[in-house]
Amino acid sequence: MTPDLFEEGAQRLASQHTQSSDMNSGDRSASYGRVHQPGSLDLTHGRILYLEDVNVSFDGFKAINNLSLDIAPGELRCIIGPNGAGKTTLMDIITGKTKPDSGQVFFGSTIDLLRYNEPQIAQLGIGRKFQKPTVFENLSVFENLELALKTHKGVWPSMFFKLTGQQRDRLLEVLETIHLKNSVKDLAGQLSHGQKQWLEIGMLLMQDPQLLLLDEPVAGMTDFETEGTAELFISLKGKHSLMVVEHDMHFIERIGDIVTVLCDGSVLAQGSLAQVQADERVIEVYLGR
Ligand SMILES: Nc1ncnc2c1ncn2[C@@H]1O[C@H](COP(=O)(O)OP(=O)(O)O)[C@@H](O)[C@H]1O
Ligand SMILES: [Mg+2]
Repeated sequence: MTPDLFEEGAQRLASQHTQSSDMNSGDRSASYGRVHQPGSLDLTHGRILYLEDVNVSFDGFKAINNLSLDIAPGELRCIIGPNGAGKTTLMDIITGKTKPDSGQVFFGSTIDLLRYNEPQIAQLGIGRKFQKPTVFENLSVFENLELALKTHKGVWPSMFFKLTGQQRDRLLEVLETIHLKNSVKDLAGQLSHGQKQWLEIGMLLMQDPQLLLLDEPVAGMTDFETEGTAELFISLKGKHSLMVVEHDMHFIERIGDIVTVLCDGSVLAQGSLAQVQADERVIEVYLGR
């Protein structure tokens, strides 16, 4: 199908959806400023993210090589693979940081992500957590979460911004989800490394992303924090779709459904953790003997 047909379909569907918009991703005010109505995300084909034959080269080096992959709504997908396999580049492509040389990248069945830039893709409902936590250390946990809502609405209104009752409820809900209810007044700078990571995930959740991308979320965490993160991700499953890049096999065993093994920029194997762990090719390139 040509991109134009997709676009036409997207517009048709968008108008259908807005007429009977029964959204579960924040109220209408939460979606203010989005480039698409959240209700226009078309999940009728059973996938929230779809990549086909994607290629990316850096100075002649093929970092992503005919990569095809899709993720179902509400799924928690783990991505594993050796260093340099292209895992971070995959996230860069989805979030618009890197534009592929060729291939297709769709959000739902109708939103062609290659047509949007990084801030627009965030507005469409794709949140990304980088490895290093980037919370505001001199602000409290509450203020960090509050700010996440404000910045979503653009800088100007934030000066006069007051939380609505609904936003306040959402903030409390997120606080509970990220296990920081008892630290709400603490300065973010006083939190442990793991708690800072949870706070940053909370800041993403305040924007109610439909798809969350997390790059090595438990790196540097204690066992206790890793377990807390597993619980957190399991609680997000079903409400959001998640793509998690990790090396920690115990963590993946705890959270994982389908595991995708990336190698040399394409999918080497996919299945349950037990299935991919038993795959000779995966053992060869990644797990070791
Ligand atoms: N901006 C870039 N410029 C040049 N090479 C890059 C760039 N980003 C990634 N690469 C290369 O692409 C390959 C895949 O990198 P990356 O996606 O970071 O792998 P992973 O996250 O799986 O470890 C690596 O060989 C890396 O050096
Ligand atoms: Mg990486």
